[in-house]
Amino acid sequence: MTTILPVASGKGGVGKTVFTANIGVSLARAGKTVILADLDLGGSNLHTALGEKNDKSGIGNYIYKQERSLESLLVETREPRLYFIPGDSLLPGTANLPYFRKVKILKELAGLVADYVILDLGSGSSYNTIDFFLTSASGILVVTPETTSILNAYSFVKAALFRMIYRSFPARSDERALVHRFTTERLEGTERSTAALIEALGRLSAEAAETARESVRTFLPRVVLNMGRTQRDVPLGAKLRQVARKNLDLEVEYIGFLPHDEEVGTSILQRRPLLSLNPDSAFARNLVQVTNRLIHEPIPRSPKLFEADEDLTELAEQASF
Ligand SMILES: Nc1ncnc2c1ncn2[C@@H]1O[C@H](COP(=O)(O)OP(=O)(O)OP(=O)(O)O)[C@@H](O)[C@H]1O
Ligand SMILES: [Mg+2]
Repeated sequence: MTTILPVASGKGGVGKTVFTANIGVSLARAGKTVILADLDLGGSNLHTALGEKNDKSGIGNYIYKQERSLESLLVETREPRLYFIPGDSLLPGTANLPYFRKVKILKELAGLVADYVILDLGSGSSYNTIDFFLTSASGILVVTPETTSILNAYSFVKAALFRMIYRSFPARSDERALVHRFTTERLEGTERSTAALIEALGRLSAEAAETARESVRTFLPRVVLNMGRTQRDVPLGAKLRQVARKNLDLEVEYIGFLPHDEEVGTSILQRRPLLSLNPDSAFARNLVQVTNRLIHEPIPRSPKLFEADEDLTELAEQASF
């Protein structure tokens, strides 16, 4: 079974690409076969974080039908068992892809022979990114301990959840039309919460409300807090959980607290992911914990257990700086 792990964020520049490159090395060193796919179409730079050359065809070439399959794009890295698929940095940006194209890309990615296929996504809430994020009900969201990052992460999970509910109904159905109106119309004084959406769907039918409720139950994003500096970052991370719970009835789980580490920048200049350049660095040591969690807890724990943010607090307490 291939596990697909999409990596997204609300705000740009929070460390998705660095995380993807390093978790790839770390999983490969744990004996897993890993493929990293650069799906930040228009802003591809995974090769830089991996320290690999950028002279091969990528997903952009595949989209423009210059390549027949994604498999033919696989590039070996210097790390045994770690492969990557370049993005489209040799081509102009590939803005919005039609849905059927995305479905085709995702089908091919899921058919690749590997233990993990990790998707480095662009930042923000475009449909491209959200549809790739929804390949898994438990995709990884990278946040940094800043208010803008947390607010944008909240907007991202909200957009992803509503998109998931939208996609749980058939094309051209009344339910889809309702979800679309609900998420696009900015009516004065109306509530945009999950509860309000489910209530509106319930006026169409009880089944519609139940289908939406089921989407909310199965969607459990896992969050990695990156560039942490101190345990005082915990309350900001906790804020994301609180607003997601209050407005969206949605639970999130924290699976990593990665410190801000000057060596991350050095490693990029030296063209080697930090995990391989310095496995003893603070960043690498904390990343290994995330790796172990991904391997040993492939399915999210019940986040309802984390009433008082036990997961994040524990990670921050264990973090080495
Ligand atoms: N833990 C860290 N400590 C120090 N610097 C970091 C850390 N993580 C990432 N960085 C730095 O932050 C910058 C942004 O990282 P990166 O490119 O991975 O972010 P991104 O989320 O992929 O950005 P984009 O949204 O543009 O794709 C880089 O310069 C990287 O070196
Ligand atoms: Mg990136």
